[in-house]
Amino acid sequence: MSNIQYRACAIDDIDTVLKFWDSATHGGSINTREAILTFLDLHPDLLLLAWDGDRLVGSVIGAWDGWRASFARLAVHDGYRRRGIGRELVERAERLLIAKGARRVYANVLNDSPEAFDFWRSVGFTPNDVIEPYAKNIGR
Ligand SMILES: CC(C)(COP(=O)(O)OP(=O)(O)OC[C@H]1O[C@@H](n2cnc3c(N)ncnc32)[C@H](O)[C@@H]1OP(=O)(O)O)[C@@H](O)C(=O)NCCC(=O)NCCS
Repeated sequence: MSNIQYRACAIDDIDTVLKFWDSATHGGSINTREAILTFLDLHPDLLLLAWDGDRLVGSVIGAWDGWRASFARLAVHDGYRRRGIGRELVERAERLLIAKGARRVYANVLNDSPEAFDFWRSVGFTPNDVIEPYAKNIGR
């Protein structure tokens, strides 16, 4: 969609991003201002946002720890879906990750989000039948 602008999250965007995630994602225990500030301090270019004018309509985090890359907080405003914004966010994030040295990227897909499975397949991801993801909450 030609009038959508894509750019990295700035510190002034954080409150808007948190409100957007409240409405457009399935939530998450680390949706806090502090967590975003920590991420931006490490990777100022890897939380990508899509805007329609001053309205935030999409986001993705391309996380990179120097060893593995993974996507998080992919979301598109429900009034803007199926217009290619999610694909554009992922492709832009992939280019940034490749430039940093990433060669494989993971997407953790919520089991109760069937549209997300279709989306990730459409951008070239396949189910990982080699690894079963284990997770643990640490810290407070
Ligand atoms: C998943 C999500 C980000 C997709 O964003 P989007 O901007 O609508 O995606 P795109 O328009 O780029 O879609 C690209 C392709 O993905 C597939 N796709 C996307 N949404 C789909 C859906 N609801 N059903 C089936 N296929 C879908 C299609 O193949 C689509 O291509 P097409 O429209 O030409 O058929 C969006 O639906 C969303 O925010 N969902 C809620 C949050 C979420 O589940 N995030 C993912 C967490 S892992």
